[in-house]
Amino acid sequence: MSDPYFQALFAERIGGANYGKGTEIYKFEKIKRAKRKALAEHPERKLIDFGIGENDEPADESVRAVMAAEIHKPENRGYADNGIAAFKEAAARFMERQFGVKLDPAKEVNHSIGSKPALAMLPAAFINPGDVTLMTVPGYPVAGTHTKYYGGEVHRLPLLAENDFFPDLDGIPAEIRRRAKLLVINYPNSPTGRVATREFYQRVIDFAKENQIVVVQDAAHILLSYDDKPLSFLSVPGAKEVGVEVHSLSKGFHMIGWRMGFVCGHERIVQAFADIKDNSDSGQFIAIQKAAAAALDNESIPVRVREKYRRRLKKLVDVLTRSGFDCHMPGGTYFLYTRSPKGLAGGLKFDTAEAASQYLITEHSICTVPWDDAGAFLRFSVTYEAPDEAAEDALMAETEKRLKQIKPAF
Ligand SMILES: Cc1ncc(COP(=O)(O)O)c(C=O)c1O
Repeated sequence: MSDPYFQALFAERIGGANYGKGTEIYKFEKIKRAKRKALAEHPERKLIDFGIGENDEPADESVRAVMAAEIHKPENRGYADNGIAAFKEAAARFMERQFGVKLDPAKEVNHSIGSKPALAMLPAAFINPGDVTLMTVPGYPVAGTHTKYYGGEVHRLPLLAENDFFPDLDGIPAEIRRRAKLLVINYPNSPTGRVATREFYQRVIDFAKENQIVVVQDAAHILLSYDDKPLSFLSVPGAKEVGVEVHSLSKGFHMIGWRMGFVCGHERIVQAFADIKDNSDSGQFIAIQKAAAAALDNESIPVRVREKYRRRLKKLVDVLTRSGFDCHMPGGTYFLYTRSPKGLAGGLKFDTAEAASQYLITEHSICTVPWDDAGAFLRFSVTYEAPDEAAEDALMAETEKRLKQIKPAF
C-alpha cells in the first residue's frame, strides 16, 4: 500500500512519519497469535486460558434489572456531562461503608467512563513538558503513556519480590524527585497481587508531602482483597491532602464492559479532573450511571465476586505448587504472579518469561501472560470460563496433568 498524503503528518508521539509501519509485535498480540496457532494445530487439545484479564460473568441480575428499567426512561436520554448526583452520592456512601472514608459527593467525587480514561486524563491536569510521572512496573501503563503524550517523562519504579512488591521511594534520585509531579501506584497491585499496608500508604503520604508530589492510587482491584478488609488509600490520615484514588466497577462488580469508575479525593484535583473530562467526553449514559449506583449500594455483590475468585486462586495455587511452582495465595486481584520456570527438567532453557509463556501456549495450549520488567514472572488469571465448581475442578485437574508432564524447572 502506498503512503497516504498525510503519512508525514502523524504526531511523533505515535511514531511520526513511521506510524503504522513498525514490525514490532506487542506482548498481547503475540499471545493472541500463539493462541490462534495452538487452536489451529491442536484442535483436539483444550485451550486452558489463564491469559484473560476480564471477569468471566455478566453483572449481577439486580443491576441488569435496574438498567433494563432505566433504559426506557426519557429523562435518561441526554448528555450526562460530569455525572449525575445520584451516582456521586452512591459512590460516597460506598466509600464510607466499605472503607470508612467520608467524602463530599458534590465536590470530592466525579464519575469516569471506566477507570482507564481517568488514568489517561489525570496527567493532562499536571504534566507540562519535562515533568516526571513516577510509575510502578510491571503495571498498567496508561497514565505513563499520556504523560509522554504531554512531553513528560516516566520514571519507572520496579516492583521486586525482594522488596515485597513495593516501590523503593528512597532510591529515587534527587533530580527525578525534584521534577516529579505525579506518583501513580496501584494496590491491590496488578499483576503482582500485593496489597498495600497502612504503613506503606503513610510512607507514600510523607514522601508526597516532602517532595510536593500528587498521588494517584489506582484502586481498580480493591474489592478483590483476600486477607483483611479492603484498604483505601484515602482511609489513611493525610491521604486526601496529597491525592486521589481511582475506583472502578469493572472488576469487583463484574461490570467490565459497562464502563463506570470514579475519581475521589482532594477537591481541587477532582475539580481539575472534571474540567479535563468535560473537554474530552460528555459523560456515561445516565441509565448506566443509575445501574452502577444500584451496584455500589449492594454490599453482597463484591462479596460474591471476591469469594469466587478467592476459591479459584486457592485451587490454582495448590495445582501449581504440586507441579513445582513456588507460589502462594496473592493478597488481592484475580491474578497469580509467580516466578517463571527457567527451563524444563529435560534440558530446554527459557531466557525470559516470554519464552516460557510462548512454550506453554504453543506446545501445551496453556495460556499465561509473561512479565519480564522486574524479574521473569508468569501471570495466571483465574477469570477462565467454567460454569460451575465441577468444571473448575476438571480444568484444574487437566492443568496439573499437563504441567506434571512438562516438568518445569526453576
Ligand atoms: C490496574 C488496573 N487499573 C485500571 C484498569 C482499567 O479498568 P477499567 O477501565 O475497566 O475501570 C485495569 C484493567 O485491567 C487494571 O488492571
